[in-house]
Amino acid sequence: MKTKILRPTEENLEKMAQSLKRESPVAFATETVYGLGASVFCKKSIQKIFSLKNRPRDNPLIVHIDSINWVYELAKEIPDDFFLLAEKFFPGPLTLILPKKEVVSDLVSANHPTIAIRMPSSHSALRLISKVKEPLVAPSANLSGKPSPTKAEHVFEDFNGKIPFILDDGPCHYGIESTILYLSKEPILLRFGAIPKKEIEMVLQKPVLVSKDLTIAPGMKYRHYAPKARVTLFLDRQDLMQNLQNTPHIKRMILSSDPIGSLDTNELNTKTLYDLLRKADRTNCEEVLIYCSLSDQKDLALMNRIEKASSKL
Ligand code: TXA
Ligand code: MG
Repeated sequence: MKTKILRPTEENLEKMAQSLKRESPVAFATETVYGLGASVFCKKSIQKIFSLKNRPRDNPLIVHIDSINWVYELAKEIPDDFFLLAEKFFPGPLTLILPKKEVVSDLVSANHPTIAIRMPSSHSALRLISKVKEPLVAPSANLSGKPSPTKAEHVFEDFNGKIPFILDDGPCHYGIESTILYLSKEPILLRFGAIPKKEIEMVLQKPVLVSKDLTIAPGMKYRHYAPKARVTLFLDRQDLMQNLQNTPHIKRMILSSDPIGSLDTNELNTKTLYDLLRKADRTNCEEVLIYCSLSDQKDLALMNRIEKASSKL
């Protein structure tokens, strides 16, 4: 199969919608990262997504909707907090977990009694969903464990020859995944992401807990966002300099949000991180050294991804 990269014209979106109706997954841009889509009601396509990504079957998928009406079809016992948050953040990079209805297969929810729902704000993603006339499950369009894709070429690296189409809507606006919130009596944050926890707390007027329980956040236990190169995080410039002195001959890349003396650094932020981690592999770096300043350290989503990318698990 030849993988075509298409721009989001009406004609191309129609082609992609037809492919989805023929049970053939396609990749598309969202405002967070690129997703690999299939209709929420098409088990065969969803199975293909798990195989294509080599994704563990116990890791559930996020369902992407284009209209709030779908929430009533897919979920039950919808609490007031859902509506408060949807009013403020839909469409946008917030995923909310609700009890699921029967119509949602256990394949999507990985046998959990819940469903994760988000309404992307990317115009082309919304157009695609509305052409299919069904919500789309879409995990990030990368091989499991690799850095998430923030450009069409990243998806091409991982899935060339494996899917018919990639919808190229340019680099993703946020470049980091959606924030995931579990809506029980007390809201629980399952994944730091594009929307800060503080903003959610302001809307709900109550504290949001951070999950330590991997049974409700199954995806969090896997190694993530990691290139082949070894990734090391530094919170202190001196430690970074020491490391450079100790191992001068290694082919490496340095990521930092501030310039560091005369070192050749790459600009680090949530939008550039995944792109740079992939670049490290393309250029055969053995090592990626990341220096996080005090202000970077306040960005919990950025720090979470760097910690995962550098974890040895
Ligand atoms: O920004 C995003 O959310 C992107 C774009 C494409 O929308 N999607 C994305 O999907 O990041 P994925 O599959 O790479 O990550 C989804 C995360 C996983 O960690 C999974 O465990 C969690 O969402 N998840 C999905 N359904 C869940 C559920 N019912 N309960 C708890 N966690 C769930
Ligand atoms: Mg992912």
